[in-house]
Parts: sequence; C-alpha cells; structure tokens
Amino acid sequence: MVFESQKVASKYFVISAVFFGLQVVVGLLLILKYIWPDPLIGIIPFNTARAIHTNLLVVWMIFGFMGGTYYIVPEESGTELYSKKLANLQFWLLLIGGLVGVVGFLFGWTAGRPLLELPVELKWAIVVVALIFIFNVFMTMIRTKKWTAIQGMLLGGIVMLAVMWLFGIPFFKNLTLDYYYWWWVIHLWVEGAWELIAASLMAFVLLKITGVERQVIEKWLYVEVALVLITGIIGTGHHYYWIGTPGYWLWWGGIFSALEPVPIVLMVFDTLNHVRHKKLEITNRLVLYWTVGCALFHFFGAAVMGMLHTLPQVNRWTHGTQVTASHGHLAFFGAYAMLILTVIYYALPALKGLKQFNQRKGFWVFWITVSMMLTLGLAFGVAGVIQSYMQRGLGIDFLTVQGFMKPWFIAVFIAGLGFFIGVILFIIDVLQIAMKKE
Ligand code: HEM
Ligand SMILES: [Fe+2]
Repeated sequence: MVFESQKVASKYFVISAVFFGLQVVVGLLLILKYIWPDPLIGIIPFNTARAIHTNLLVVWMIFGFMGGTYYIVPEESGTELYSKKLANLQFWLLLIGGLVGVVGFLFGWTAGRPLLELPVELKWAIVVVALIFIFNVFMTMIRTKKWTAIQGMLLGGIVMLAVMWLFGIPFFKNLTLDYYYWWWVIHLWVEGAWELIAASLMAFVLLKITGVERQVIEKWLYVEVALVLITGIIGTGHHYYWIGTPGYWLWWGGIFSALEPVPIVLMVFDTLNHVRHKKLEITNRLVLYWTVGCALFHFFGAAVMGMLHTLPQVNRWTHGTQVTASHGHLAFFGAYAMLILTVIYYALPALKGLKQFNQRKGFWVFWITVSMMLTLGLAFGVAGVIQSYMQRGLGIDFLTVQGFMKPWFIAVFIAGLGFFIGVILFIIDVLQIAMKKE
C-alpha cells in the first residue's frame, strides 16, 4: 500500500467475503430441494432461493471488483483517491441496496427475470451507485501523470459494465426482444466487461508479484482484450439460437463464440510466461498459487466447458439443462471468484502493512475450494449429460429422468458442504487480517 485512501477497499473486501458465504448457504438449500421433498416450499420456494443465490453472487463480485479498483487506482495513478467520502457513501448505498433486494425477494418483491430479478426502483438505485463509483475513479485517474493500459482497461470495463446494466432495466412485452436485451447484460457482462476488469486486475497483481516489466505485461493486455471484445460481442449469438431471433444467429453465434476460448488460452500462456520469467523472487507464494490457479480454472470453466456446448448442434440438446449449471459454476468460480480471492489475498495484507503473514489458512482455502468446486461442477455435468440424453434424446418423462439424476445431485450437495468449509475458513481469514492492528 502506498496511499492512505486505498484503505477504503478493506470494507469492500470484508462484505464481499461475507456475502460469498451467504450465497453458498443458499446454494446448499437449493440443491437439497432437488434431493428431498421440500419442507420450506411455502417459505422460500425454489425460484426465490435461486434469485437470492444468483443475486448475492453478483453483489459479492461487484463488491470485490469495486474494492479491487479502489485499491489499485490510487497506486496506478500515483495519487490519493479523489474522494474517500464518496467511496464510503457508495459502499453504504450498495450494501443497503443489496440487503433490501435480498429481503425483498423473501417477500415476493421481484421483477421476475432470471438473474435480474431486482425491482426496477432498486435497479435505478444501482445506477446511482455506479455513477458515483465511475465519477470517483475517473476523477482520480485524470490526476495521473501517465495513463497506463491497466487504468484505461479498468475504466473501460467498469463503464461497459454500467452501460450494459441499463439494457436490463426496461421490460419488453415481446419476450424475444426481452431476452435479446437480457443477454446484453448477462453475456456481455461475463464475456465482455468483467473480462476487461479481470484482465486489468490480474495484470496489476502479476506486475507486483513478478516484477516483470510493465510494457511486457501491457503489450499482451491490448491483444487479449481486443480479441475478447471481437469474439465476445458477436458471440452473444450463442444465446440467440432458440429465442425467436433470425436463423443467421446460428452461424454468427456458433462461429464467434467458438473463437472465445482463444483469448482465454492466450491469457493462460501469458500468465505462466510472466511467472516463469519473473524479475523478483516471488515471496508471496499464496498469491502466486491463486494467480496461476485462477488462470487454469478460468480456462477450464469458461473456455473448455463453454466450448463443449456452444455450437448449435450440441446446444440444441443441452440448452437449459444441468450442463449449463455445470459450466456456469465452473466458469464463474474459475474466472471471477478466484480472481477476487487473488486480489483480496494480495491487497488485504498489504493494506495492513503486513510484510509477512501466516498463509497456512489461505492455502487450505485454495485447495479445498478448488477441489470441491471441481467435483461440484463435474457432478452437475454428469447430471446434465443424463438429462440431455434421456429427456431430450430419448424423450423420457421429466420426473423419471430426475430420479436418474438424483445420485449426482447428492454428490453436488456433499461437494457443496466441503466447499462451504473452505469458504468459512476464507471468511475467518479475511476477518482476522482485516481486524489486525497495523
Ligand atoms: C468467465 C466467463 C463465463 C462465465 C462466468 C459464464 C457463465 C455462464 C452462465 C451463468 C450461463 C447460464 C446463463 C443462463 O442461462 O441462465 C452461461 C451460459 C452459456 N455459456 Fe457461459 N460463461 C462464460 C464464458 C463462456 C464461454 C467462453 C463460452 C463459449 C465458448 C460460453 C458458452 C455458454 C453457452 C453456450 C451458454 C448457454 C447454455 C444454454 O444453452 O443453456 N460461456 N454461461
Ligand atoms: Fe455467453
């Protein structure tokens, strides 16, 4: 840490970790609903629990990205944050907005569109939070003497994230149109804006832990990000196959989304290369593990598991089955959850001025969460293959097929419990580091 105002990031990290834990608790509840008759059906039905599970995911990731940004921007720009007050105000607004959203779901206050269930009033409140955030980041960056690629890309990513959000606010009566724009938020977030944010945060951490020259790291950033945008924007078409859009999307979506793994593969090679040609002795082994693990898991969850079902010839059988859940979990965990944990494990001890801290718990968190999420994702995958084959392929009745999938849901539950232990350890670790006296 170089600047005092970077400290605002701390509380973003703490809330990010706590909401992560809540998300997993609700996830366990959800998988139980697949296994046993549901005693809670009148209190928290499946759709409500699912809305809470996925919205908490989005909220903890946004807290993580914002915390990471507030840590990095002053250091990259060589100046204190434009306004600590605004950063704090924005933190509280987001926290209250998130909590009202979750409690509201319990009382049926929902806009009903999967992943974007927040009622329209709260969606506008999020716009206000985003504007404060972007203003604060931008005003800090313009004080800089030298613009860096990391700054530019980070700013581009958060602006794109906010602009895309706007397309999720109106409701179109024509469902084809509604889903068309819905994907502008969902797909263009995770395969567009978030990739930019992730690439810039990762570049920063790599720069710090390896000491590789900035130009070397940044040169690759341009190439990778250009490719992410070229393939990712038209790749949105892989969600347009079956929603009533024109047939040419089968071609455009298929071809461009099949190219999406290319920049991800480049990023993996690039990360490994920087680590191999490091200039410093990497003393922070924990962050090194998270960095390399994140690159590899990003590749597996997003590129491999995405590629498997992105062509229309495959997707017509797997669309909306547990194959999608398998990919969703593995990609989100590898690309973004691990990224945020990387940033937190790098930045939080640095904020406390800890040159050295006990990393044992951090390694446990790493191995438990990675192995358990791998198991969980693959178990969903097997359930999905059974579902695609028996239900879609052979036309066997829905409930009969669910019976065949049940052992794999039990496997998901057991892996989920293991994963939860890892997350509890993470939360304890974060709280302990955050509460340390400097
Ligand atoms: C980090 C990046 C990614 C994340 C976080 C992610 C996450 C997700 C999630 C959550 C869904 C489910 C959406 C829903 O229907 O509710 C989904 C669907 C899908 N993703 Fe990804 N994804 C990523 C990258 C990719 C890539 C690179 C590809 C292709 C190579 C891909 C291919 C697909 C396809 C084809 C679907 C639709 C599945 C269906 O038809 O049901 N994804 N993704
Ligand atoms: Fe997509």
